[in-house]
Amino acid sequence: MRDAVLVVGSGMMGSGIGAMSALAGVKTILVDVDEQLVRAGLERAFACIQLRLESGLNTSEEAERALALLTVSTSVEDASGEAYLVIEAIVERVEAKQALFQQLDALLPPEVPICSNTSGLRITDISRLCSHPERTITTHFWLPAHLVPLVEVVMGDKTDLDIAHRVMAELRRWKKSPVLVKRDLPGQLANRVFQAIIREAIDIVASGLASAEDVDTAISCGMAMRFPVWGPLQHLDGVGLDLGLSVQETVLPDLCADRHASQYLRDLVERGHLGAKSGVGFYDWSERSMPKAMEKRDRFIIEAVKIINELERE
Ligand SMILES: NC(=O)c1ccc[n+]([C@@H]2O[C@H](COP(=O)([O-])OP(=O)(O)OC[C@H]3O[C@@H](n4cnc5c(N)ncnc54)[C@H](O)[C@@H]3O)[C@@H](O)[C@H]2O)c1
Repeated sequence: MRDAVLVVGSGMMGSGIGAMSALAGVKTILVDVDEQLVRAGLERAFACIQLRLESGLNTSEEAERALALLTVSTSVEDASGEAYLVIEAIVERVEAKQALFQQLDALLPPEVPICSNTSGLRITDISRLCSHPERTITTHFWLPAHLVPLVEVVMGDKTDLDIAHRVMAELRRWKKSPVLVKRDLPGQLANRVFQAIIREAIDIVASGLASAEDVDTAISCGMAMRFPVWGPLQHLDGVGLDLGLSVQETVLPDLCADRHASQYLRDLVERGHLGAKSGVGFYDWSERSMPKAMEKRDRFIIEAVKIINELERE
């Protein structure tokens, strides 16, 4: 009987993804290359479940059931016999993903969707060696996968629209917010928007208009405050498209329109300023703590998700 979700690759992303399917009441099998790695993945998935329980995002019944539904395997062959859905979250190397997809494609009946959590590769390329590329699709979870609701569902050149709808329905059952991306382009959807923000943010710092800290404050304390319930296109409808048009006419000619990576960023990288991991990036990290910043980020996401869930119930 096919009643399990198979998550292949139980690293940072796979463990969070597995936690979410198990919390939805689905039997979930985490797969990794050896016993030690898959056990570590299972522990991480348990920690994700524990955090969601302690934060009030899931009930103790849901958490207990999830712990019992999670199992592990080091064999894709053995585990695929039970799978009605597969999510691949292995290393971001196209040859490794192609080989795994070819193996899964040969093992699974054609109606079983095979999804990739790739952040930057094309599903069309990943599924190149498959006989049934129409059942392959990207499901790009955002980090941390057990907290951020967004999943970008990206169709490859050969993906069947019915598969996309089935996968999205399943993700909604996992309390995720899937969006459909109809073409397989670099940056999928959200990273295209994010890169446009990053391009302008770097240009503001590079041109001396404002400091990195002030750019981040302007975004975090301004537009980002309303983004969880009020996207930019809804914002345009709110203020009026005529006003939106006139602002575009004034501001766009002055914005950065580079079609290449930023020279300012390139110079920082060449000087060894790689961010928190080297001690300096846009900020000096000698007196700051990245783990603390991440903890603050996750605490905020948890509270935001709770409020959004509450608003949706109203
Ligand atoms: N880390 C992020 O912020 C992020 C966000 C979104 C998407 N992604 C994507 O998710 C995928 C996984 O990223 P991650 O950060 O979890 O990586 P990770 O290195 O933490 O985990 C990858 C896991 O896959 C295992 N693995 C490798 N080859 C395997 C195989 N053939 N069969 C089974 N297991 C195998 C590894 O042992 C490892 O445990 C990548 O494609 C990445 O681009 C990452």
